[in-house]
Amino acid sequence: MYGLCPHRYFPLAQGKLVGDNIQCGYHGFTFAPKGKCVLIPSQGTGSGFVQPVYRVVEKAPLIWIWMGDQALADPDQIVDYSEIGLSQAGWRNSDPLYFHLNGRSQLLVDNLMDLTHLAFIHPQIDGGAAIVNTKYIYEQKGATFRVTRPMDMPWTGFHDFLYGPAVRFEGISRVESVTDFYGPEFIRTGSPVTIAIEGYDAVPDGIGLVYFLHGITPETATTTHYFGLSTRNFRLTDNGLSQALLEIDILTREQDVVAINLVERRLQDAVARQQELLVKSDTAAVRVRGIIQGMLDKENLSNLSGEQGCGSIKASGPEVGD
Ligand code: FES
Ligand SMILES: [Fe+2]
Repeated sequence: MYGLCPHRYFPLAQGKLVGDNIQCGYHGFTFAPKGKCVLIPSQGTGSGFVQPVYRVVEKAPLIWIWMGDQALADPDQIVDYSEIGLSQAGWRNSDPLYFHLNGRSQLLVDNLMDLTHLAFIHPQIDGGAAIVNTKYIYEQKGATFRVTRPMDMPWTGFHDFLYGPAVRFEGISRVESVTDFYGPEFIRTGSPVTIAIEGYDAVPDGIGLVYFLHGITPETATTTHYFGLSTRNFRLTDNGLSQALLEIDILTREQDVVAINLVERRLQDAVARQQELLVKSDTAAVRVRGIIQGMLDKENLSNLSGEQGCGSIKASGPEVGD
C-alpha cells in the first residue's frame, strides 16, 4: 500500500494493524487490504477513497514489490533463487541486512558495477588491490549483464578466512570476480572464485562460492532502501564463519553507504559544475545505465529520471576513455 496517509500524509508504517486493516497512527483513518478507506473515526463512516496498492510476491526471505503498471507485474521476472544460492539445498544464507541510503539508487548500482573501489574503500578485503587493474569481460549471460574480472594471484588472507588454512595451496591460481546485474533492483557480486585452468596450480576441493546479494529499492529520488544477504555453499555448519562473514559483510556495506551518502550530498553541485570523468572501469556502469534507461523508455517513464525512480545522472555517458 502506498505509504503516506491521504489525510495529513502521516507515514502509514507508523500506524498499526487492526485485523487485516491498516490504521493510520495520526487520526485513525483505516484502510482495508485493497486500499479502501473503511473508517474515519471522527465521522464514524468510511469513504469512497482508495489508497493505491501494489502487487507483492513473498519469496522467503525477501518480499518483491512491483510499483509500475500493475497489469504488467510478472512474478517470472523475479531473480531465479537457484542462481544466487538463496533458499537452496546445499547453500546457507545470512539473515537479510538492511541499510538506509541517503543517496539515489543509481549510485549504489554504479558502486557495484565498478569494484575497483575495493582497494580504497574496503581495506579489510585482502587481495582487493589485485582487482584495481584487471581485464574485464562483459557479456549478456541469461537474465544478467555480467562483468568478469580474471586475475592471476596467489592465495590471500581473504582465502584463508573463507576457506580455512586446510585447503590453502602455494602458487598462483586464476581468480575470477564476477558481478551480475539482474536489473536496477538486484545485483549479485561474487567473492573471488578460484578456478582451475590449465597452466595454473590445481585448485583443491573445499573451495566454494560466496555471493553477496544486493536488493536495491528506491525510496525517493535521492534515498534508497538497501537490502543485503550473503549465500555460500561450503562450510555450511561453521557458525564461526557465518558470524565472521556477517561482520565483514556489515562493515563492507556500511563503508559503501558512507561513500554514497557523501557523493549524494554534493552531487547536484558537482554535476552542474563539471562533467563526470568516465574511465575504462566505468564501462559496466555506463552500459547498465543504458539498460536501465531502455527499461524506463519501454515503460514510458523516462520523465522519471532525476525526479522520481532511479534519478539518473545520465543514462549513458560520453565515450569511455582511458
Ligand atoms: S494523517 Fe492519517 S489519519 Fe490523519
Ligand atoms: Fe563496496
